[in-house]
Amino acid sequence: MWSIIQNSFLLLSPFLPTSLIPSSQITPHEDYHGPLTDGGVWYEAYERARGVVKEMTMEEKVNLTTAITGPCQANSGGVPRLGIPGLCFNDGPSGPRYTDFVTQWPSAFTAAASFDRDLIEERARRIGYEFRGKGINVELGPVTGGPLGRSPYAGRNWEAFTPDPYLSSTLSFLTVRGMQSSGLITCAKHYILYEQDPVCDGPLDDEGGRTGCRDVSSEVDDKTMKELYLPSFAETVRAGTGAVMCSYNKINGTAACENDDALNRILKDELGFKGFVLSDFGATHSTVGSALGGMDMELPGEYYYGQRLLKAVKKGTIPESRLDDMVHRILTPWYASKQDSDYPKVNYQKYDLSDSKEVNGHVFKNEHVDVRGDNAMYARKVAAESTVLLKNSGVLPIKGVRRIGVFGTDADYPSTLSGCGPDLFCLVGSRRRYWNGTVTIGGGSGAAYADYIAAPIEAISLKARQQGIRVDHVLQDDPAHFGSIGWVAYQSEICLVFVSLFLVEGWDREHLRLDKRGEELIKHVEKNCAGEVVVVLHAGGQIIVEDWIDLPKIGAVLFAGYPGQETGNALVDILWGDVNPSAKLPFTMGKSPKDWPRDNLVREMGKGSYPIAEFSEGLAIDYKWFDKHDITPRYEFGYGLSYTNFEFSGFEVEERYEKDRDTVQKTNERYEGQRGLYDTLYVAKVNITNTGKVPGAEVAQLYMTFPKSEVEQPPKHLRGYAKEYLEVGQMGTVEFPIRKKDISVWDVKKQLWKVPHGNFIFRVGNSSRELPLKMTVEIGSSF
Ligand code: NOJ
Repeated sequence: MWSIIQNSFLLLSPFLPTSLIPSSQITPHEDYHGPLTDGGVWYEAYERARGVVKEMTMEEKVNLTTAITGPCQANSGGVPRLGIPGLCFNDGPSGPRYTDFVTQWPSAFTAAASFDRDLIEERARRIGYEFRGKGINVELGPVTGGPLGRSPYAGRNWEAFTPDPYLSSTLSFLTVRGMQSSGLITCAKHYILYEQDPVCDGPLDDEGGRTGCRDVSSEVDDKTMKELYLPSFAETVRAGTGAVMCSYNKINGTAACENDDALNRILKDELGFKGFVLSDFGATHSTVGSALGGMDMELPGEYYYGQRLLKAVKKGTIPESRLDDMVHRILTPWYASKQDSDYPKVNYQKYDLSDSKEVNGHVFKNEHVDVRGDNAMYARKVAAESTVLLKNSGVLPIKGVRRIGVFGTDADYPSTLSGCGPDLFCLVGSRRRYWNGTVTIGGGSGAAYADYIAAPIEAISLKARQQGIRVDHVLQDDPAHFGSIGWVAYQSEICLVFVSLFLVEGWDREHLRLDKRGEELIKHVEKNCAGEVVVVLHAGGQIIVEDWIDLPKIGAVLFAGYPGQETGNALVDILWGDVNPSAKLPFTMGKSPKDWPRDNLVREMGKGSYPIAEFSEGLAIDYKWFDKHDITPRYEFGYGLSYTNFEFSGFEVEERYEKDRDTVQKTNERYEGQRGLYDTLYVAKVNITNTGKVPGAEVAQLYMTFPKSEVEQPPKHLRGYAKEYLEVGQMGTVEFPIRKKDISVWDVKKQLWKVPHGNFIFRVGNSSRELPLKMTVEIGSSF
């Protein structure tokens, strides 16, 4: 097929030098045997779209490629004559943003801690139906590996799942599949290597916004790109994502939204992506460069597409076949998701929640459609299943106490729900943004409105009242209140301290500590508490806890992430043991900033015309960096406690072939051998027994070490995980299918995936550093 593609290039575009012809320019043709031609569910849609494109005028085609601000964050033009409406595009990954009567879900970074495939897919399915209910055609989400989480300082990691590419890949696949099962089109973002926000060196503007910003160029080698940053996007393609958003950053010097290599060669050819690439807001920098570079739609506004695109196509600078390709790509997922025959109309208008609003001369009605169903119940479940118990002296679950003290603004209601503006931006002080009550989600495009917040103080008070427990509280952090905080702590048998880290798009982190001097609050409560202290962390990233974690009265610590609107209820489920904690950290918590590579984020403009981030750590990010450099973390990737204990036994790895049955869009990735890259070749199995005193779930984790010949590989890689709920004394068996890709490396010279020959070591346990069982498997075949 490779050669067919190469040949059709030359035939179709004789007037361009071959080096300038992007491969997406290939017009689908009768003898084109693309990845959808073997019965994929998109095949019919692909054919229908091709037929419809032929009917359109050039103006109509351009209309479809350009989205402007409307009732939604962006609305593309339609072709009413052919029954094609404009599409509605709206954020974001934690639920429909900018509208009401929706659910504010736990963020992806939080939900990843559940290590629960079914839970993640069901979360996604429910989010998908909320978007559908509002009439949103394309969700600007999920965030699938851009950022992946290269640096703990990146301010948007909480919008994505985890820095581990295997966990991120599997969750990305399930999230796209779950969301699109509602008929919604997902947009996997931000493609690719978007690991930090722009560097800004201007003064803050009147509204506290940044000025003098320049996009960073991510400089990465081919192997790191293929093995670390690309796999999650490959999985979204396999799952059938209809759209992909190109990101703000440059890639090896060229803007992501006009990067022929990243968009045409890798995404569209190598991954076989048949949907459309849309630009992040303001990430388009050219007309011809973007069109030939592989970007199919501009959002929001008509800066480089619209009239300019039309002019360029008329002039012949952009071949009409490329315009056809853009429209074909936009319409294929629209037909595939059946939005042409069965989809609600847009019934809201973004930004304000009033009943109607005029946008571009049209009055849009806000029908306030309630799309929540019983999602609050499920959001609570996701939040509880994603709360990681980091430390426990036995103080949890709460029992036998009569007086509890609650401390910190983070336990309180936000003083207003939208008073910080639609982005939840709350400017406190000149350079720092804080949230004004309990932190349930981060700010910027990953945020979703909540219609209510079940604040921790509300849920704790209700639960305690049912049990005859007295609750005192001082919901303050400021040292000015330390007198009353100390006094209440002195009378409390359990002191619950709430601390947080609020992260906002556009503001990478300057340190790895808590907001509002949370460390001081913890230490003050610890000093004064009559009994033991339980610390609750609401944070969207890694926190250094060394100042206080080993203090004698710190009895328990919970990492609750950004749990969404059901925060307090989910927390109460864990505190009182109605839900036994089973979540695991989807990232590593180091002991010191020095544990991570230095200069992990670029902070300076540099000497050239843009700042450069050298991804010199290669494959070794997060736990792989700690493993490679033998650094002992405070809490390792995969770590999390339970109220019960588990034992592993009977570990086996057997050869078992199973053909891939999940793929929606087949990728064109090249590989050695006969078996498909996503076919299962081995299955590992292990027994788990609940040896403790209460029922609970454990996450069995499988890690793999490549043969010694693979010198560039970090010491181990997650290659399987399975969550099993077990009654007291019960034993269960879990299986981990190991696909060909999971045991392959990217051969840079041959430009293909290959299974290295030699001894593979597999280990299983319940964290990346607690792996009691081991097996060596000799692999001598390329399959
Ligand atoms: C910029 C963000 O990077 C992107 O994720 C979001 O979808 C758009 N803004 C629209 O809010």
